[in-house]
Amino acid sequence: MKNNFVKVSAALTAFLMIFAGTSCGKVDQKNDEKKIISSGTEEPTKDGSSDPSETSYQADSADETTGSTEKQTETVPGTTDKKGYTASGSDKPVSGQPSGTVPNGSSGNGSSGSSSQITDISLTFYDVTLTVGSSKMPIVTMLPADAPNKGEIWTSSDESVAIVDAYGNITGVGKGSCTVTVASSANPDVKAKVNVKVEDAPEVPVADGVTYIDGVLIANKTYSLPASYNPGGLTGECSAAFQQLVNGAAADNINIYLSSGFRSYDYQAQIYNNYVAIDGQANADTYSARPGHSEHQTGLAIDCNIIDDSFTGTPEAIWLENHCHEYGFIIRYPKSKEGITGYKYEPWHIRYIGVEKAKAVHDSGLCLEEYLGITSQYNY
Ligand code: DAL
Ligand code: ZN
Repeated sequence: MKNNFVKVSAALTAFLMIFAGTSCGKVDQKNDEKKIISSGTEEPTKDGSSDPSETSYQADSADETTGSTEKQTETVPGTTDKKGYTASGSDKPVSGQPSGTVPNGSSGNGSSGSSSQITDISLTFYDVTLTVGSSKMPIVTMLPADAPNKGEIWTSSDESVAIVDAYGNITGVGKGSCTVTVASSANPDVKAKVNVKVEDAPEVPVADGVTYIDGVLIANKTYSLPASYNPGGLTGECSAAFQQLVNGAAADNINIYLSSGFRSYDYQAQIYNNYVAIDGQANADTYSARPGHSEHQTGLAIDCNIIDDSFTGTPEAIWLENHCHEYGFIIRYPKSKEGITGYKYEPWHIRYIGVEKAKAVHDSGLCLEEYLGITSQYNY
């Protein structure tokens, strides 16, 4: 199976090498993330077709769920703040139907008087304000830590306001307020509640099919660019800022170089369609943008150095993470934000938004979608 895939990948690589007029670098099959074959350092051509980026990703079938939420349950010994916690059955029952349960794989059923019965649930937040279409998920801690069954049952008191999935990912549906409750499946009287307020999504100005939010040109899964949007290359401001970044890195003995810059709508279509052909659409959508949805079409995004998982954790990647905001760039698809950006972690992909905003986004610890209060989800 793997061999077949490698063959397909090799064929695609050959195609892309011909297409991009480039030669191939290396194949990285480390860990369980997407693997790509990178051809290195060349500058983009006029239509961006030099881009070797993201050519020939190799998928590990064990890790193809990016974009969905993942269970995050912490086991923290000791007691915790019980804000929002209800330990008795006297709590007002929620009217929504159970949205799902998360079993913990144990055989504990909680029906006996086990000393390890769940007695407490704490959450990382108890109040949340969402916009319609946006999501947030608290981390759950069930105590005692040695309880055999930490299964969760999530419900929403009003699914016309917010829904919640089996993992506790809460999504705004309509303007209003409601309560989302998590109960222990082993001991349903033990609950914790999140007060949810949902506001209308912000007004989004769109001019000529191009979306700006808070002055930032947006290209993500929700907001697309018309096929005709073509700055012809990186914008002057972005190029100048990148040169400053390269110089700043060099002063720290770090070599940063451009591997992929501007990509036209048509070029992105070819890249994306090839990934779909070899990897299926669901997988391709976790690492490659559909045409019209790639930031590379804005002329404001750059893939640096090795466009490959092996770049993660290198001195260059760490330098970018710590310093790119000083030059007006952000790491656009950060680690642990896959469910919000819609893409796997890309430590090499930086996006120019100007120094002031880049610093603010960096210091916030949020990804751009969170910072601007917008979604990144295809509606087709
Ligand atoms: N790899 C990023 C998401 C793109 O294709 O634009
Ligand atoms: Zn990129």
